Amino acid sequence: MTDRRSIESAFPLKQTSLDSVHEKNVRHGHISTLHIWPAWRPLAACRAALLATLLPDPETAAERRALCETIGGTVRQVVRKTKDGEALAEETVGGILHWKREQENVAVLAQFRQRIRAAFGGRAPKVLDPFAGGGAIPLEAMRLGCEVTAADLNPVAWFILKPVGWGDAGTPTSFPTMKCWGSFLTPTYELRTLRTHSGKCSIPAASDKLRSSI
Ligand SMILES: C[S@@+](CC[C@H](N)C(=O)[O-])C[C@H]1O[C@@H](n2cnc3c(N)ncnc32)[C@H](O)[C@@H]1O
Repeated sequence: MTDRRSIESAFPLKQTSLDSVHEKNVRHGHISTLHIWPAWRPLAACRAALLATLLPDPETAAERRALCETIGGTVRQVVRKTKDGEALAEETVGGILHWKREQENVAVLAQFRQRIRAAFGGRAPKVLDPFAGGGAIPLEAMRLGCEVTAADLNPVAWFILKPVGWGDAGTPTSFPTMKCWGSFLTPTYELRTLRTHSGKCSIPAASDKLRSSI
């Protein structure tokens, strides 16, 4: 057996692109709405990249195709209304990348968690994101059952990422803990107010506000 990973041979690129474009237009309930990040990554892209990096290369063409379809689903053509009439577009069917589809396909997600552990000798792999920003990569790594460490020098990012280290020694912070933190954060701290008029986060203003509220 080699240590070759799926991302080196098989990646559901088209599905990830389609679902990432769709996710960029989600304006409600998304981590990115807490604060504007330079270059925030869509959850769909982080989930696909993590899965393909953590899972071993399936080794045959048929198995690679099957893995890509289980992650990203299949692509179909649809007719969409445009301001000039109608146009052909593409969308995904199935998989666990499209916004909220990971919640509809929980059994598939659970199977992936098992496959990842199996690929790491039965334990949760460690994932480190030293420039975590809005937390898309740590969040998705936790969703996949990894033991996550995240860091960022921006205090707003630090605050969003605070529960990442809350697991007991040796156990990763659970994804439900992170979800609870998200529902507490949004109405309580209104992180949007930390932004300056230019739309960018002012680090000194954010530090002062967070210091007085923690
Ligand atoms: C492109 S953003 C990360 C976006 C993130 N991947 C997401 O999807 O939200 C880069 C991050 O690196 C952080 N950063 C830059 N220099 C750093 C340093 N020396 N130590 C820690 N974090 C740093 C910035 O504060 C910023 O949040």
